[in-house]
Amino acid sequence: MTEAPLGLLAELTHRCPLHCPYCSNPIELVQRADELDTATWQRVFDEGRELGVLQVHLSGGEPLARPDLPQLLAHASGLGCYTNLVTSGLGLTAERLADLVERGLDHVQLSVQDSDPGNANLIAGVKGYDRKLAAAALIKDAELPLTVNAVLHKANLDNIGGIIELAERMGADRLELANTQYYGWALRNRAALLPTREQLAAAGPVVQQAKQRLDGRMEIVYVVADYHEANPKPCMYGWGARQLTVAPNGDVLPCPAASVITTLPVQNVRRSSLAEIWYDSETFNAYRGTEWMREPCRSCPRKEIDFGGCRCQAFQLTGDAAATDPVCTLSPDHGLVQDILGAEIIPVRPELAMRRSV
Ligand code: SF4
Ligand code: FES
Repeated sequence: MTEAPLGLLAELTHRCPLHCPYCSNPIELVQRADELDTATWQRVFDEGRELGVLQVHLSGGEPLARPDLPQLLAHASGLGCYTNLVTSGLGLTAERLADLVERGLDHVQLSVQDSDPGNANLIAGVKGYDRKLAAAALIKDAELPLTVNAVLHKANLDNIGGIIELAERMGADRLELANTQYYGWALRNRAALLPTREQLAAAGPVVQQAKQRLDGRMEIVYVVADYHEANPKPCMYGWGARQLTVAPNGDVLPCPAASVITTLPVQNVRRSSLAEIWYDSETFNAYRGTEWMREPCRSCPRKEIDFGGCRCQAFQLTGDAAATDPVCTLSPDHGLVQDILGAEIIPVRPELAMRRSV
């Protein structure tokens, strides 16, 4: 039986002051004119809550770019949902934050690019380092729980110890150290972002030591570099299992990257209700559960653990979203990943294609 979703990732806009080359937003960004209006977002939250959603993640792009963010947040909070603002911190002022807190903001996730200010600004494509420190101070002053998120790649992995110290200085309650996943802009920049095995081997013990040292003070979540692993990640804990994503134009996706799977019909809140999309649509049912699996997944003891890996990655690398994720060493397509690692882990860093503005 299909369970109700727990979380709704609301990508309010693709507009963003940063240009991170690892952005998982699609290459074809949604234009401002195509964004859902305030009333439609509020209807989406109503439908999400009716469906069972308990957590609303207000994300983007940069959600602070939406002038109606306070109304949207108040609406989600008024429905009884836990609200999380996923932000770069740029554009956050004491006044705006106080207003959001007043309207029910529960948690903030703040991105950082590096502990080295020059490198951080280079990766972000904008001078944002100091403004992020200021944003963190505002969030702590407001006594909100703070998660710091750092996406890791070749250009910052060597500074992982510094990034952990930066999160400590910011007063983070939780730190997500997430090796880059290759979708959207990150896929375009893969050769520039893929870390070396040596970098990953050096980072592991740093994270382990920090976890022990900071136990009880700051939770550290380390997301491994999946191309280098033997087993794929349990992407989204299964397709259409726990969370749905609504893109700025109202497209409803089983995961933030799913628009890359061009063989599935596009679902949109302007045409269907969230309940219809979640329970009945071809898109959400395509890879739910384990019935859709072929060998080697079908008879594999790990199929309820990793769900065959990531459907978007399978499609991107093989052209078939029902294929076993090629990261898996049992996949007949595993050689594709080995070839990528062999060809693209190079000592020089090719020029980064910075994410465009909308
Ligand atoms: Fe996971 Fe499929 Fe690989 Fe088994 S064969 S480990 S279920 S991806
Ligand atoms: Fe889409 Fe993994 S990112 S299923």
